[in-house]
Amino acid sequence: MRKVTKDNITEVFAGYFGEDTDPRVREVLTGLARHLHDFTREVNLTHDEWRKGLEFLEWAGRITNPERNEFVLLSDVLGLSSLVDMIHSVPGATSSSVLGPFHVSNPPPLAVGGDMKRNFDGQVVLVEGHVRDQQGNQIANATIDIWQTAPNGMYSSQDPDQDIHSFHALMTTGEDGRYAFTTVRPVEYTVPNDGPVGKILDAAGRHPWRPSHLHFIVKADGLRSLVTEVFPDDDPYLDQDTVFGVRDDLIMNYVEQPAGSFPDGFELTGRVPEAYSRVVFDFTLAQATA
Ligand SMILES: [Fe+2]
Repeated sequence: MRKVTKDNITEVFAGYFGEDTDPRVREVLTGLARHLHDFTREVNLTHDEWRKGLEFLEWAGRITNPERNEFVLLSDVLGLSSLVDMIHSVPGATSSSVLGPFHVSNPPPLAVGGDMKRNFDGQVVLVEGHVRDQQGNQIANATIDIWQTAPNGMYSSQDPDQDIHSFHALMTTGEDGRYAFTTVRPVEYTVPNDGPVGKILDAAGRHPWRPSHLHFIVKADGLRSLVTEVFPDDDPYLDQDTVFGVRDDLIMNYVEQPAGSFPDGFELTGRVPEAYSRVVFDFTLAQATA
């Protein structure tokens, strides 16, 4: 391997694998090296810039811990997480979107029609819909893992004043595939911007804000699990999401309802005399792949 040049190094790399290398590993590494080499040649990367890049990765490693993963955040703000989501989305099924770092394990069960807002103040929202397959069948016993920010813009894991399960719930659909719960309107928030990823956002003239959203993980036997988020159509950051998570089919309407119209069948029935909002959002799950 003596005659390596700047023009043939990608080819040399592609030819330098052990005979038993897994074909997929070979494909991914060859593609990675091809794009990395092309990128380096295209921007004429300097030694200083190369060193800064490695220092960036080292800093990201130092700041990463079980509660904070700077590499996931880097993937998010570069659009990589969303690109992987979109490449593997199934036409006709509800789009997936980023999981984010604030999901907690073992969320408390909540019956259909249950109250997720507990004692928090904020604009009451009634969220409901159905889980269906792509043939339109309503799916019984689907589980819906739900989480969101409190009105102060913080998830429970960020906020010592909330118990870890506040604004987290696990719902199971009945025979009709329906889910429904009450909550308060989630609010916009910023991704962590006090580390190396924040430096990238600053350098790029970008803000760290995300539009407000409800997070969902929907699972049902024989269907592909869905990790997604749902956004209100009037959010000011809808077209500036710093992690590129918004999709057209994930935008919903908060429809204002008059005072005194809160419907029967909810845990808060009789306890919401004022105006509230209502959101209807249906989930369509794709067939599971073998
Ligand atoms: Fe979130």
